[in-house]
Amino acid sequence: MSTETTENPQAGAAHGTVPSGIQDIAFATGHYSFDLAHLAEKQDIDVNKYYIGIGQETMSLTAEDEDTVTMGAAAAQRIIDRNGTEGIRTLLFATESGIDQSKSAGVYVHGLLNLPREVRTIETKMACYGGIGALQMALGIVARNPEEKVLVIASDVARYDVDTSGEPTQGAAAVAFLVQANPDILAIEPAQGVYTLDVQDFWRPNHRNTALVDGKFSVGAYLDALVGAWNDYRAHGGVGFDDINWFCYHQPFTKMAVKAHVRLTEEAGTPLEKAEAAAALAPTFGYNKQLGNSYTASIFLGFLALLDSDEEIAGQRVGFFSYGSGAVSEFFVGVIQPDYRDHLRAEEHQAILDAREPVDYDQYRALHPGTMVQPLDNYKTQRQTESPFRFEGVDEGSRIYGKS
Ligand code: CAA
Repeated sequence: MSTETTENPQAGAAHGTVPSGIQDIAFATGHYSFDLAHLAEKQDIDVNKYYIGIGQETMSLTAEDEDTVTMGAAAAQRIIDRNGTEGIRTLLFATESGIDQSKSAGVYVHGLLNLPREVRTIETKMACYGGIGALQMALGIVARNPEEKVLVIASDVARYDVDTSGEPTQGAAAVAFLVQANPDILAIEPAQGVYTLDVQDFWRPNHRNTALVDGKFSVGAYLDALVGAWNDYRAHGGVGFDDINWFCYHQPFTKMAVKAHVRLTEEAGTPLEKAEAAAALAPTFGYNKQLGNSYTASIFLGFLALLDSDEEIAGQRVGFFSYGSGAVSEFFVGVIQPDYRDHLRAEEHQAILDAREPVDYDQYRALHPGTMVQPLDNYKTQRQTESPFRFEGVDEGSRIYGKS
C-alpha cells in the first residue's frame, strides 16, 4: 500500500466539473451496549471467537423509544448545528430497517429538525448498499447544481434471531453527512465500479424484525461482488491498486473486511496475508467493533474511524467498497482534503460510545424485539433514551416522534 499523496488533493473532479464530496460527518447510536463476552458465556464458548474470530467486541442496542429515525435525527442534528441549513435542498435517508412501507423515514427527521419546507426527501433501500447509493445520487445533484447541498442519513438497527450465527453481528447506528461542492473532508473521484447479481444471501420479509441470512454463502457473495465491482472500476478509468492508500469496506463484522482485502490483493496481483491485511485496515475498525453491524451506516463508520485515527492522511486516496446483500455493490475512490483535520471530533465520538449503558444477557434478551413484527396500531413506549429525540409510540397506526 502506498503512503504517498496524490499530486492534486482535489483530484477527482470529472473534467470541467467542480470537485464534490463530504463536507462534514457525524454519528449517533442506541442507548445500550452489550458485550459479546456475555453472549459467549451464555453459549459456553470462547469469547475470542467473537473478539478475534469475527472481530467484534460490543454491539449497540436501541431502547424501546429509539429507532432509525431517532438515531438518524440525532446524527443529523449535529450536522445542522455545525453547518446550518443553507443550501440543503435534498435529504436522502438510507436504511435497511425502514419503519413504514410508504413514508420515508427522512420526512420524520425533516420534521424533528424543523428543516425548511423547500427540500425533497426520499428513502433509499438496497440492504447495506443504500447509503452509498444515496451518496452517489447526492453527487449527481451537486454536479448539476453546485450551489446545492445534500443531507444524507444512513441509519439501521441490525437484528437477527437469537441463537443464530448472525446474532453476534447485530448492532445499531446512524451516520449523517453533508455532500457539497469543494468539500473540506473528502473529494470523490468520478470513476465507479458497479455490480448487481440477484442472490438470496440475506433478506428480511415485511413481517419480520429479524433478517434471514445464509451466513457462509453471504460471505462468498460479498467476495464475488468485490471482485466484480473492482474489475468494473478498473475498466471504467479507476486508478490502480497501488495508487490507493487506504481501503474502507462495508463491515458487517470487521473480520469480513480482512477477508475482502485478502481477496482484493489477490485479484490485484499483490497478495497480502491475513495479518498484513488486518494491519492495513486496522484504522477503519475502531467504531464498528464497538457498534456492531449498522448496515447502511457501517462503511461510513469505517471511514470516520480512519479520519479519527492517528494516521496523517491529507492528500491520500481512500478506496471504498460497499456491499448490499441481494446483491448490489460498488467500488470508488475519494481523496482526503488538506484541511480535513479541522473537522475531526475523536473525543466527542468516543464520548458517544462511552455514554451507552451496558446491559447483561437477560437485559439483552428483554430488549430483543423477537422475530415477528407485532401488528399493533396503538401503543406507547417507555421513556428510556437520552437521545434528543424519542419514538413515543403508535397512535391509530401512525408513528409518533417527539423531542426528549
Ligand atoms: N479464537 C479465535 N478465532 C476463532 C475462535 C477462537 N476461539 N473460534 C472460532 N474462531 C474463528 C474461526 O476460525 C473463523 O475464522 P475464519 O472466518 O477466519 O475462518 C471465525 O472465528 C468465525 O467462525 P465461524 O466461521 O465458525 O463462525 P460462524 O459460522 O458461527 O459465523 C458468519 C460466521 C456465518 C459469517 C456469521 O457471523 C453470520 O451469519 N453473520 C451474518 C451474515 C454476514 O454478516 N455476512 C457477511 C456478508 S453479507 C453482508 O455484508 C451484508 C450484511 O451486512 C449482512
